[in-house]
Amino acid sequence: MSTSGGVRLAPRVRNLEISPTVAMAQRAHALRAQGIRVYDFTVGEPDQPTPGPIVAAAVEALKAGRTKYAPAAGLAELRAAVAQRYRQDWGTSFAPEQVTVTVGAKQALAQLYTAILDRGGEVVVPTPHWPTFAEAARIAGGRPVLLPLTGKNGYRLTARSLSRAIGPRTRAVLVNSPSNPTGAVVEPDELVRIARLARRRGVFLILDDTYTHLIFRPEVAPPLDAVAAAAGDRLAVAGTMSKAYCMTGWRVGWVIGSRPVAAACAALNSHSIQSPATFAQIAAARALRGSQKAVRDLAIEYRRRMIAVQPKVDALPGVVCPEPEGGFYLFPNVEGRLSEELPDTVALSLRLLEEQGVAVVPGEGFGAPGHLRLSLATPLEDLREGTRRMAVFFSENAGPRRR
Ligand SMILES: Cc1ncc(COP(=O)(O)O)c(C=O)c1O
Repeated sequence: MSTSGGVRLAPRVRNLEISPTVAMAQRAHALRAQGIRVYDFTVGEPDQPTPGPIVAAAVEALKAGRTKYAPAAGLAELRAAVAQRYRQDWGTSFAPEQVTVTVGAKQALAQLYTAILDRGGEVVVPTPHWPTFAEAARIAGGRPVLLPLTGKNGYRLTARSLSRAIGPRTRAVLVNSPSNPTGAVVEPDELVRIARLARRRGVFLILDDTYTHLIFRPEVAPPLDAVAAAAGDRLAVAGTMSKAYCMTGWRVGWVIGSRPVAAACAALNSHSIQSPATFAQIAAARALRGSQKAVRDLAIEYRRRMIAVQPKVDALPGVVCPEPEGGFYLFPNVEGRLSEELPDTVALSLRLLEEQGVAVVPGEGFGAPGHLRLSLATPLEDLREGTRRMAVFFSENAGPRRR
């Protein structure tokens, strides 16, 4: 029997833990509540506010009484706006009927896993990975199979390595590009090869493109039209307004897939969330159809921060910090700083927070012990001061090993 303090819980939640990112952010928050200045590098959302025109569209919608249920597949105007945005950005030809609106990419993944994974059905998840990719699969009754990638070659994901991880029970392979936490982008040719592989082996390619507008090198932008053509009805995209449009709290995302997959996700919506808030969907549609300048500016700002901070972190003795190709995280390897006193990055992160007021996420939760995740979603001055404090910390806590 599964119990928690005498309360009987279902086995699927028995070992479910709050995400390590949230746990560390909560510690940072508790310190801040005591009046302590914290340099918080745990944050997984842009520090910029939602652009004014998007907010205005929501206010207008509320005033106009757009406060009733939206259809389970999402508002027609938003489904059309998503299809059109992908067409303009990536040259795809998805029909609005292939889009189902969800409560962010998190719920898109949950609905996709529920729709695709039969009991014990496997999803190949390249690791280091965002913890939800694995936990959400378990909740849906599936089994994540972790495929280790190595920092030595920039966490490159290849069709060849994925192919070896596909077995008789595999139902899907998960690709997150740019990756949270590594910032690695799958090479365009390789992504097409992966799409072909998925179709050939009869498994779904679930593409989480949450950070796709925050790619720092345009030449590695995803060739989504070619990917869609190669994967056919095996492609399922989990997308979101959260990061590129600074709309994390609005909770609007989507699934794009074949019509049966989109319809299955809509049916799941109809028995769970119904649909995200109607006025939030109207604002999202406006954002997707309007000027994309704010999105481009955001990508420029994150690149600027990355260029300012990554070399400083890489220069810390015993630390190796590769340059990310997209997203808004640095993912340094700090194995060279671990010692008897600080045996893992959980211990190291706690000490760094206590001594220097710098909050980072330990790599353990991403399947990458010996690493830290630092978010760039913090103003540049704070990033500079935070990295200065990290340098002080590392000089005061001299590890046994050196680079
Ligand atoms: C890779 C990845 N996918 C999805 C999400 C969740 O996004 P949403 O706010 O749309 O649920 C995140 C959030 O951190 C993420 O890093």
